[in-house]
Amino acid sequence: MSRSAHPAGPRHADVWPEGHYSAPPADVNALDPKVWAQTVTRTDTGEVSVGGIGVATLAEEFGTPAYFVDETDFRARARAWRTAFGHDADVFYAGKAFLSRAIVRWLHEEGLNLDVCSGGELTTALSAGMPADRIAFHGNNKSTDEITQAIEAGVGRIVLDSFQEIVRVAHIAQSLGTRQRVQIRVTVGVEAHTHEFIATAHEDQKFGIALADGQAAEAVRRALTLDGLELIGIHSHIGSQIFDMAGFEVAARRVVALLAAVRDEHGVELPEIDLGGGLGIAYTSDDDPREPHEIAKALGEIVTRECEAAKLRTPRISVEPGRAIVGPTAFTLYEVGTIKPLEGLRTYVSVDGGMSDNIRTALYDAEYSVALVSRTSDAEPMLVRVVGKHCESGDIVVKDAFLPSDLAPGDLIAVPATGAYCRSMASNYNHALRPPVVAVREGEARVIVRRETEEDLLRLDVG
Ligand code: LLP
Repeated sequence: MSRSAHPAGPRHADVWPEGHYSAPPADVNALDPKVWAQTVTRTDTGEVSVGGIGVATLAEEFGTPAYFVDETDFRARARAWRTAFGHDADVFYAGKAFLSRAIVRWLHEEGLNLDVCSGGELTTALSAGMPADRIAFHGNNKSTDEITQAIEAGVGRIVLDSFQEIVRVAHIAQSLGTRQRVQIRVTVGVEAHTHEFIATAHEDQKFGIALADGQAAEAVRRALTLDGLELIGIHSHIGSQIFDMAGFEVAARRVVALLAAVRDEHGVELPEIDLGGGLGIAYTSDDDPREPHEIAKALGEIVTRECEAAKLRTPRISVEPGRAIVGPTAFTLYEVGTIKPLEGLRTYVSVDGGMSDNIRTALYDAEYSVALVSRTSDAEPMLVRVVGKHCESGDIVVKDAFLPSDLAPGDLIAVPATGAYCRSMASNYNHALRPPVVAVREGEARVIVRRETEEDLLRLDVG
């Protein structure tokens, strides 16, 4: 790896240009434990290591760009959710955040269930040994094939998202000679404070059946009359990357009110409610996420209180965290390529990946942190924008951050908190080869999803 010198970027900017950042950090070498995986640390040489292995060794063996997931941290977070919610509740990891067979095995071993939202995710889960009855099947437009596959596999529940689907699932279950356990997904009418594209509880959107105008009550009415369905509960997912518990509390209150209305109308007490996922994580030091035990306590208390008031038996609660489990456990390792200082503005630092391995910045204006990880530096911090190698100026990985001003091509930098919605949303744009995911634990590193090859690309191109 070359470590050649280059002209440094702006060092002394009295007035920094507008951006997301607040100010240069006191110590540009510091790694905030809020945003880095549990076993990430700087060794005496200044190099960063994860699971006891230095990043230079990891880069040498697995190449860059690559995602490194801290297995110890993943298991600890999964366990923390499981423990926080206890035996009267279920934790369904949302596979859309990131799914692979190793992840499925870890979840199974740690006692979690799994939420899948496509035939592909279901196949991955089953092929890695997740018992079908611990799987929930989601989606706003499940195909007939997917519904059939899910029912034949014996999934624990299908979450019904529309009136058409109530009939479709009932029909398929009946024709397969079975009764499918289902929940109905409702939109509770909460405006979650998050990016518009990942807020899902307001009525004007594609997911779920609205509570407000009696649609959800009508959906329950229909589901209860169909022989192919066993209606076990109501589902609500208000959005993603949310810090404020207020939205979840309103959702819980409204879902319990529906349970009470169902009891009053049909004499049936639905035994379960699912309050979805969506808990935020720290991407930068400015974010302050809640701990699983705080979330479990807040949700448990509100559901219990509302049920007592409505004289309902407290239903079994389930939750579906994806990001909050896997997000903080991984970082993406890049090698620095070209560096372009723009006096008085910022320095563009190009890396060997980009929007093909992390689309979140371009898509949601997401904020990330970044650190020089192959060494420490005493140089002053410079304001940087970390960009990829794609043919697009919106190809930004980290919009505004500070790196040492002696940064040079060949240095390794890492972007933390990329475990969720990065590899799972990765693309082949510009025929980029999607990076591998490497699990690191107690001095051992192993590939759990291998790097794509040009042969992989050509294999699909059958023209
Ligand atoms: N349950 C349901 C029904 C969901 O739709 C989702 C996420 C989850 C659970 C998990 O949410 P989480 O705990 O991971 O926030 N690509 C976007 C996020 C889309 C989330 C879609 N549904 C992003 O990168 O921020």
